[in-house]
Amino acid sequence: MYNLSDQSQTPLFSALRAHAERHPIQFHIPGHKTGIAMDPEFREFLGDRALSIDLINIGPLDDLHHPTGIIDQAQKLAAKAFGADATFFSVQGTSGAIMAMIMAVVGPGDEILVPRNIHTSVLSAIILSGARPYFLQPEVDLQLGIAHGVRVESVVEGLQRHPHVKAVLLINPTYFGVATDLRAIAEIAHERGVVVLVDEAHGVHTHFHELLPPSAMESGCDLAATSVHKLGGSLTQSSVLNVREGLVRARHVHSILSLLTTTSTSYILLASLDAARRQLAMHGREMLDRAMTIAQDARERLNQIPGIYCFGKEILQSSATFAFDPLKLTIRVADIGLSGFEVEVILRETYNIEVELSDLYNVLCVISFGDTKSNIDSLITAIQEIAKRELLQHHHKINIVVPSTPVLAMNPRDAFYADTEVVRLQDSIGRIIADVIKVYPPGIPVLLPGEVVTVDNVEYIEENLRAGLPVQGPDDPTIATVRVVKR
Ligand SMILES: Cc1ncc(COP(=O)(O)O)c(C=O)c1O
Repeated sequence: MYNLSDQSQTPLFSALRAHAERHPIQFHIPGHKTGIAMDPEFREFLGDRALSIDLINIGPLDDLHHPTGIIDQAQKLAAKAFGADATFFSVQGTSGAIMAMIMAVVGPGDEILVPRNIHTSVLSAIILSGARPYFLQPEVDLQLGIAHGVRVESVVEGLQRHPHVKAVLLINPTYFGVATDLRAIAEIAHERGVVVLVDEAHGVHTHFHELLPPSAMESGCDLAATSVHKLGGSLTQSSVLNVREGLVRARHVHSILSLLTTTSTSYILLASLDAARRQLAMHGREMLDRAMTIAQDARERLNQIPGIYCFGKEILQSSATFAFDPLKLTIRVADIGLSGFEVEVILRETYNIEVELSDLYNVLCVISFGDTKSNIDSLITAIQEIAKRELLQHHHKINIVVPSTPVLAMNPRDAFYADTEVVRLQDSIGRIIADVIKVYPPGIPVLLPGEVVTVDNVEYIEENLRAGLPVQGPDDPTIATVRVVKR
């Protein structure tokens, strides 16, 4: 029987499983009918049990858009586990949850403070909502060529300069695992009645170990979009939207999330959220303890390799680098004379190792409670060999260059929908861009609609393209041409 304080239950997963085990005759979609009508090789590969729970919102299985049964119970258990007043499941990743979170608090013309290093889903929400963004500059790390969090002082200044902002959005932690002083910012924003939204795509696990950066809910923030699938053990694309009631109403947030969500919600994804929540709540702390020990060992061994640097506690120097998640290993390879992307390719082709992402200077490896000491040994051996070989051959370090931040001359939505013309990338310098241009991952815009293109933006894009990194966004996949607003 369902009991809110018993985190060992999985009301959604258990009911789904019991339903499948009764083998009802199904006159409903999906038409593969538990795999029977599916391509045989794919069916065999996936397995009949997984396919037996690929179901839809028939009566006994509740409805994500109007939950009153097992989904409602699973979401309430999740809220309890995440320390939220309400939790809503997202089958459209954290991207979907971020769009709902923003659109629940700002509409056309409303002002919102956001860091410049936003994920593109934040930009999507800004374009869709018609809100007016004001950018906060994150702290840029010139040793690594990456952006961290924003300083408390930057938020205070932003709130003073733009007294009508309705909300402030923070990324916590960043892709590279660096956290801002969220609690201090939440207090300051709340004194002014400003809603605090958190992109917690990389922070699902932080709530379950006291040595990790404080979670958004623990820090008193109002809304947090959280990728359970990234480090919480659920299936890819499954996330949650956590809500603290007060400045926002959970029912309103849910109705906006519903507005943006498919009506064909995947029960495999939903059940995986229910099960992942159980595992995090029941065993998260001890599993994270093990993962953190492995990651710390890896960090120490990486830092003993000549030419390699993997940051740790020494990075914690300001409110923009207030805490860090040790499970992220940001391995700077610039000093061995290779780009991060080149190391990513060598790791793939020579060592059968896949990393989370690379950029011009670093590769990022993510450790979770799925890793073993032997995985780490393989990574260390590979990095040792690559570094040794390169240091013998090259005598140059790669200089770390960070592009300047462009000026926003037009609201992103206005630029996105403006009359545009297509010009060569080089000819876009000095023009207002209508496209978003990002390197994915991490998916942070180099340029976003409404910004004036600078020479070093173009150089940075070209350097990323030359390095083979995945630059995306414009209609032209080669980025030889882009859309700019007509003069
Ligand atoms: C900072 C940040 N926010 C949001 C997202 C989107 O998360 P999801 O992939 O779950 O949609 C990502 C994805 O990588 C991210 O890095």
